[in-house]
Amino acid sequence: MPLTRIQHFCVSLDGFGTGEGLSLEAPFGHAGHRLHEWMLGTRGGRQMFGQQGGTGGVDDAFVRLFAPGIGAEIMGAGKFGPPGWHEDPAWKGWWGPNPPFHTPVFVLTHHPRPPIAMKGGTTFHFIDASPAEALAAARDAANGLDVRIGGGPTVVRDFIAAGLVDHMHIVVVPVLLGRGVRLWDGLESLEKDYKVEATASPSGITHVTFTRAGL
Ligand SMILES: NC(=O)c1ccc[n+]([C@@H]2O[C@H](COP(=O)([O-])OP(=O)(O)OC[C@H]3O[C@@H](n4cnc5c(N)ncnc54)[C@H](OP(=O)(O)O)[C@@H]3O)[C@@H](O)[C@H]2O)c1
Repeated sequence: MPLTRIQHFCVSLDGFGTGEGLSLEAPFGHAGHRLHEWMLGTRGGRQMFGQQGGTGGVDDAFVRLFAPGIGAEIMGAGKFGPPGWHEDPAWKGWWGPNPPFHTPVFVLTHHPRPPIAMKGGTTFHFIDASPAEALAAARDAANGLDVRIGGGPTVVRDFIAAGLVDHMHIVVVPVLLGRGVRLWDGLESLEKDYKVEATASPSGITHVTFTRAGL
């Protein structure tokens, strides 16, 4: 049975998945790159963006779980572009002509538009649907493989709250953002439904995995 997975979703120590003040110039708002710079330093993270070099070790091992076995991604409108992107017919996401997904990607938005096929196998589909409906569409497109819920925090929280997530890898980054969009609000006692494990990395990051009980 294919799984619904979250891979290396980053939160600050105080639980924020992005900062405040998102814009074209600041995709993570006042958080800057503080939530992700650990990942961009790893070998796997650099390969994802066509770069060489980088570190090995536990952070790299976790980053490398991003793509294997994934047949489709679901993301929110807030991940796809800055506020107001839907008013720009030429906007095709942040990632350039060859985005690092290489599968169908379902963008949840109240402003659907026709699909966009990119180089490297990524096709963006824009849908206005409930989490369960979006997951059904992504499963159909995933050819029997797993579906990744790619963020941002609002969409990740909605899918967890709907009970649709089987496995999640949350990266707790030792920074305090103080403001932004929280991941955990409304998810009280979530740990009861999952087996929770933590791996501390020498980099200061903690990788926390939640695997649905019984899997
Ligand atoms: N920490 C991480 O690892 C990580 C990962 C990915 C992204 N991010 C960051 O997270 C931020 C974006 O997160 P966010 O929480 O602001 O937004 P988000 O979760 O990406 O998207 C939320 C938006 O998606 C649309 N949407 C959500 N559910 C929908 C539904 N059921 N039907 C139709 N539309 C729906 C709505 O936008 P509209 O009403 O405008 O259509 C909603 O405001 C960005 O800064 C991004 O860079 C962080």
